Amino acid sequence: MPENVYEEIVRHRFYGAQPNFVWLRGQSYACLDPKRVPHVQGCEQEAVRLAERWGEDRDLAAEAGILHDITKKYKGPEQLRLCEKYGIITDNDEKANYKLLHSKTGAAYARERFGIGDAVYNAIWWHRTGHPDMTLLEKIIYMADYVEPTRDFEGVGVLRRLAYEDLDAAIIKGLEMSLDEVSANGLKPHENTVQALYWLREHRNKTAPGDTRSVRKEE
Ligand SMILES: [Fe+2]
Ligand SMILES: [Fe+2]
Repeated sequence: MPENVYEEIVRHRFYGAQPNFVWLRGQSYACLDPKRVPHVQGCEQEAVRLAERWGEDRDLAAEAGILHDITKKYKGPEQLRLCEKYGIITDNDEKANYKLLHSKTGAAYARERFGIGDAVYNAIWWHRTGHPDMTLLEKIIYMADYVEPTRDFEGVGVLRRLAYEDLDAAIIKGLEMSLDEVSANGLKPHENTVQALYWLREHRNKTAPGDTRSVRKEE
């Protein structure tokens, strides 16, 4: 089948088409700074493992992992141009720290080009800041991005283990570490990250550790 025909079928998800992941990886990696490819490969692998651990759809996890950083290489002005193109409203925190924007522009770009569904769209959209009441897939991508095998920082081993024992506890730890890092860099924490942390601290105590009922959203 000609490449452009295949791209159109995937873009519109005609006949319920799901992209071939070998093809999708190639498309995604071509958009990345080559240095970022091992991270994206690791994120996909970690997301699939976490999906298997916590009962999420492994293909959705793989798709989100493959595409989550697809606009990451773009700097501030290009990010803002993409926001304008896709009608993404930016807040002051994002304008001050444009690195936050690639999650939103990445979701919009991946939907336009690869026809991703809402679950994957939202997992990409929220992978940088988190937000209150995250879905299981959103949590998996947030965590996979944090602890995938090429990540190397103090405490990553503990955080990785925790992600398989108590996903909410791992997210809380990840959010706390993210807020500490933002403060250390002299930036203002994003409100969504702060709210995500408050929400989880309040709600996770109502469920036993390891019980995933609280992290599943009713369909
Ligand atoms: Fe990212
Ligand atoms: Fe990433």
